[in-house]
Amino acid sequence: MRTLGRLRRLKTTLVPEFHSWCKLQAPNAAGKQLPRIYVTRRIPPDGMKILSQSGLCNIEQWDSDEPVPRSELLEKVAGIRGLYCLLTEKIDAEVLDAAGPSLQVVSTMSVGYDHVSLEELKKRGIRLGYTPDVLTEAVAELTVALLLATSRRLLEAVDEAKNGGWGTWKPLWMCGYGLTDSTVGILGLGRIGAAVMARLKPFGVKRFLYADTGPRPDMATKIPAEFVPLEELARHSDFIVVCCALTPETQGICGNRLFSLMKDTAIFINTSRGGVVNQEDLYQALVNGQIAAAGLDVTEPEPLPTDHPLLKLKNCVILPHIASATVATRNAMAALAASNLLAGLQGKAMGKEVPL
Ligand code: DGY
Repeated sequence: MRTLGRLRRLKTTLVPEFHSWCKLQAPNAAGKQLPRIYVTRRIPPDGMKILSQSGLCNIEQWDSDEPVPRSELLEKVAGIRGLYCLLTEKIDAEVLDAAGPSLQVVSTMSVGYDHVSLEELKKRGIRLGYTPDVLTEAVAELTVALLLATSRRLLEAVDEAKNGGWGTWKPLWMCGYGLTDSTVGILGLGRIGAAVMARLKPFGVKRFLYADTGPRPDMATKIPAEFVPLEELARHSDFIVVCCALTPETQGICGNRLFSLMKDTAIFINTSRGGVVNQEDLYQALVNGQIAAAGLDVTEPEPLPTDHPLLKLKNCVILPHIASATVATRNAMAALAASNLLAGLQGKAMGKEVPL
């Protein structure tokens, strides 16, 4: 009872307008029925504040930290004008059909939009907002943290310290790979890839390579980074960092062929989407010593089942998709997604819109 009371108080302190958000709002002062929107999760306060204070929509929300069940989503979207979703909801023909012709705008609180069927949106003339830029720094920072944790074997070392494996100081024990004089290869040189390179440069990296659908001089010249074919990137890199979007072209692009070309001392890092990697091939590469280690912030599926073979490997560091998880970044993402949605409802230009 006391815990329940404490939880309620906490909810009211953190989220003062919590109660009003969860129910439909009344018509506005002019008595006009406001457009209905559906928010598929409990979201950071800055986003909710923008929606609730706008006076532009009636909000209904799945008020939980857990994803909305598919059946509930299909029921709740009927007749809505705007949908505020996360990367965990598959927005496909079924959802759009359930929403019906009233739906004008989908706004995802994510930079990635591989969970949204662009083709189905386009067919129906529905606009899509997303949240690039505001998470670039946080994701780049976490990518560097994951790279260092993986290459310097931090998690293994912490385990050893806790579990009695720490004997005397040994010259050959717990040795990993450093960034000084290394070659770093970025797969997918966008904003995040460039921000990762900028952060790695002061570590003494000798050479930056990148592979992409074509040269990106706008991103590459400042570092500088050389555009190379993927095979060359694989052969020469000491660290490969995957920063590309998941598309039909990049699905499974990191598989046996790539791993077999990589150095056996190389480190593989992925903070983009799990679908870019063939996880069975990665497992084999790690077990057979084709590559030294991998650090993943994203997997397929998510969450990765706790009995997944990759989780058993000492040379694989797996994080639960937390690259953008700073309080400020999540608030900025929530706020941008909210403004995008409101702009879309009013037929105005969105801050960040996916061209369809
Ligand atoms: C996104 O926004 O697509 C990221 O994966 C969230 O961290």
